[in-house]
Amino acid sequence: MSVRTISVVMNGVTGRMGYRQHLVRSVLAINEQGGVTLSDGGRVVLRPILVGRSEAKLADLAARHDIADYTTDLDAALEQADVYFDAQVTQARVKSVLKAIEAGKHVYAEKPTAETVQEAVALAEAAKAKGIKNGVVQDKLFLPGLLKLKRLIDGGFFGRILSVRGEFGYWVFEGDWQSAQRPSWNYRAADGGGIILDMFPHWHYVLENLFGQVESVYAKAVTHIPTRVDEQGRTYEATADDAAYGIFELSGGIIAQINSSWAVRVNRDELVEFQVDGTHGSAVAGLRNCRVQSRATTPKPVWNPDLPVTARFRDDWQEVPDNADFDNGFKTQWELFVRHVVEDAPFPYDFASGARGVRLAELGLRSSAEGRRIAVEEL
Ligand SMILES: NC(=O)c1ccc[n+]([C@@H]2O[C@H](COP(=O)([O-])OP(=O)(O)OC[C@H]3O[C@@H](n4cnc5c(N)ncnc54)[C@H](O)[C@@H]3O)[C@@H](O)[C@H]2O)c1
Repeated sequence: MSVRTISVVMNGVTGRMGYRQHLVRSVLAINEQGGVTLSDGGRVVLRPILVGRSEAKLADLAARHDIADYTTDLDAALEQADVYFDAQVTQARVKSVLKAIEAGKHVYAEKPTAETVQEAVALAEAAKAKGIKNGVVQDKLFLPGLLKLKRLIDGGFFGRILSVRGEFGYWVFEGDWQSAQRPSWNYRAADGGGIILDMFPHWHYVLENLFGQVESVYAKAVTHIPTRVDEQGRTYEATADDAAYGIFELSGGIIAQINSSWAVRVNRDELVEFQVDGTHGSAVAGLRNCRVQSRATTPKPVWNPDLPVTARFRDDWQEVPDNADFDNGFKTQWELFVRHVVEDAPFPYDFASGARGVRLAELGLRSSAEGRRIAVEEL
């Protein structure tokens, strides 16, 4: 069977996501397994061309992973590209992605695709006008826990779904006595930070793909920790939201309520968990695991504060088996995108869906600023 190579310009590979998930766990892992398998059995190997601002960092990375090509010159790199990939800080994304689109390259990008709906829609329109393939990272859809949840939905486990409760977050250290485990730009509004802009695009595609269209949003965004200490040890003012408490009404009458916070201590099994309640059963899905309780096995608690609780409610849930091999979600989506580029395989995670995610973030911020529920209109 044939093996062909496509060149992928990767911008932002010195960052957390760009390096670990996209370069190492996706692109290099794909090459290690012999490439992406096409429907005719042929294979596609990826030739990464690393792009960034620091030649020294790129050289170090390239040497560490035996990568031949790297440059600080995006234009020069694009001349050799089949695909442009962007995992830069959000704020730098639009300019580079537009450049790649204008050069006629297929584009894959981290979320959010832009900081504003206007820009996100402009990217989608530019991509469409140029006729290039475009995609946005929607990795949570490929997590084992959410794949199991999808399987339950597809199998009719829930009956009529009533509600979704999402709990996401963990304590991000302030940086004074223990270093912060997220980059400081996340906490500065002027630098594209904020948990709503970071997480609502994720919640949007999760809700849209699993449960239904988001028809309205009410959100309360808060900056719980007003000052933090950055990578250089300087104290700075946190101007972006570090927690958001959101309620989303979905088509079909489903109510989703999702808390997102970098100022919460974890008392859960996983860093994100979604509880889904339906008339016939409920599930709690995390990154990897998913537990269920069916109508028939639902206990009948009676409210009585005078008696100590003896029931062990969590023991009444059952683990959903894997029944499949789950690969890294970022890698799975890369493989889908490569097949989309090379053999026109379906890929619904396009810039238009990315723009819908940015819109939910923008409306969430507006809802919080105006203190009211906002209807989500068609884009
Ligand atoms: N899919 C996910 O689960 C997920 C998780 C975290 C972050 N992200 C997204 O990935 C992107 C990168 O986030 P990260 O956490 O890896 O950030 P990071 O700060 O670790 O990395 C950012 C990258 O952009 C580069 N960069 C920084 N400032 C720049 C500038 N002014 N101009 C050009 N490049 C610049 C850095 O050198 C680095 O390569 C963000 O858009 C973020 O929203 C996605």
